Amino acid sequence: MKEKKQWWKHGVIYQIYPRSFQDTNADGIGDLNGIIQRLDYLQDLGIDGIWLSPIMPSPDADFGYDVSDYHTIDPKYGNLQDFDRLLKEAHKRGIHILMDLVLNHTSDQHRWFQESRMSRTNPYHDWYIWRDASPDGSAPNNWKSAFGGPAWEFDEKRGQYYLHLFTKEQPDLNWRNPDVRAAMLDIFRYWLDKGVDGFRLDVFNAWYKDAELRDNPRLPGLHRRPFESYAHIYDVSQPEMIPALQDIRKIMDAYPDRYVVGETFLADSAHARTYISEDRLHAGFDYAYANSPFSARAFGKAIQYWDSLHEDQAWPNYFLNNHDTPRSSTRYAGANDDARLKLLAAMHLTVRGTPYLYYGEEIGMRDVSLTRAQLKDPVGRRYWPFNKGRDGCRSPMQWDARAFAGFSTAETWLPVHSNYKVRNVANQAAAPASLLNFYKSLIALRRQRPALHAGKLNMVDAGNDSLLVYKRSTPEETMLVVLNFSKNMQSYTLPVEDFNQWDLVFTGNEPITSHMTDATLDLPPYGLAILLSRAV
Ligand code: NOJ
Ligand code: CA
Repeated sequence: MKEKKQWWKHGVIYQIYPRSFQDTNADGIGDLNGIIQRLDYLQDLGIDGIWLSPIMPSPDADFGYDVSDYHTIDPKYGNLQDFDRLLKEAHKRGIHILMDLVLNHTSDQHRWFQESRMSRTNPYHDWYIWRDASPDGSAPNNWKSAFGGPAWEFDEKRGQYYLHLFTKEQPDLNWRNPDVRAAMLDIFRYWLDKGVDGFRLDVFNAWYKDAELRDNPRLPGLHRRPFESYAHIYDVSQPEMIPALQDIRKIMDAYPDRYVVGETFLADSAHARTYISEDRLHAGFDYAYANSPFSARAFGKAIQYWDSLHEDQAWPNYFLNNHDTPRSSTRYAGANDDARLKLLAAMHLTVRGTPYLYYGEEIGMRDVSLTRAQLKDPVGRRYWPFNKGRDGCRSPMQWDARAFAGFSTAETWLPVHSNYKVRNVANQAAAPASLLNFYKSLIALRRQRPALHAGKLNMVDAGNDSLLVYKRSTPEETMLVVLNFSKNMQSYTLPVEDFNQWDLVFTGNEPITSHMTDATLDLPPYGLAILLSRAV
């Protein structure tokens, strides 16, 4: 039987950080109408789905990741009518919409928490994780917040401590309370009923904590942040998470073609994989790939491992960028040179799995560098200067050379990168050799070739440390991807033993590209080649 084509499996997903994509009412903050205005651009880029970072009401202690109401849209982004219009307009263009669900914690301004802190007997008293102080008045256990300081905050009114794995404005929900769990599952149904195509689950493996809240064991050695000094065995990844995912998957499966992808917290690739299956999540994120150094060997190893963890039981996905990490352009490339970014894009869009792109990645936006006073992110504000936080990768989208990069007509919430007059969508759309045009043509090729969007992956030992080489194949076609990670030219002899003829189908859009003479492929520095076998 021919497998049904699943949009999330074969497509490309594009993450939008709504604050920074397009502002339409001159408040310096992106909005839903702005996203609607840019849907034609996204359709032209060739994406299949959008993951929207949180758009529910939030006091912005952590910019949307502290939700004060799960059932509506933050007025700074628009309203439910705007959201319906976004869904409709996106769907018209074949673009699916994923919401970001932040269900580990709420905002401290959420009505539930406001009630919960009033007394030990109110109807919401057990919706959060409250504990008495230790006999000496200190916190109930040794857990630390990922964003600094203890994970416990004393609340004078209630006379108890509450748990927060992130900022103190993000109290953790008590998922062990059946009412909380039921309320959480209702949030899925509510948005599915509105027609959303799926969800990205924020730090889902932290939802359940050890029932006895036991101390985490201390790790030997010195660590920069207290949070890193402990083995996180009791605050995350508890077995109760599995039945919760199974319930979520049942809800998802009651609607056609829906998708749920999870962000694991503090989990290695193998552990992240345990949450993915036919009755758990459809997919999960892998950090080993995103954190690889720029080398054929390192990326090859991460891909091989993540791919083999999935086998043919599940479908991997890959990201190089998100709203929590310095941009890959800033990590791997010089300020003005995009050659390495094209090489990474070629890998990212041709490995087996769903590629995630992060707004601006397609034009090689670089991180902004900010002064202490300009910081917004609670992480940077706390840890400056040794950790400058996550604002760098959240700057406004660079659309054109107008003031504020065409993102807004007023002062923007974070500064626009100073390179915007040169590096922007309008310029790159007009330049045949741009990174944007590279992405567009490769996404189009990926869509056209089943081997690239649906085939299995086999690593090929290139016998050359500078090259990453792999095959993608379906029963109908085989393709070969050859990527040169070095700044020198490299030659590669094609594997003629299995097929005797290859067509070079994609070499990028640089003036000098890879070329083939008989069975030898010559690749320029950071060059690439995608070939199609003529043998069936
Ligand atoms: C992970 C999100 O990606 C991050 O942005 C957020 O700060 C934390 N979870 C807390 O919700
Ligand atoms: Ca706005």
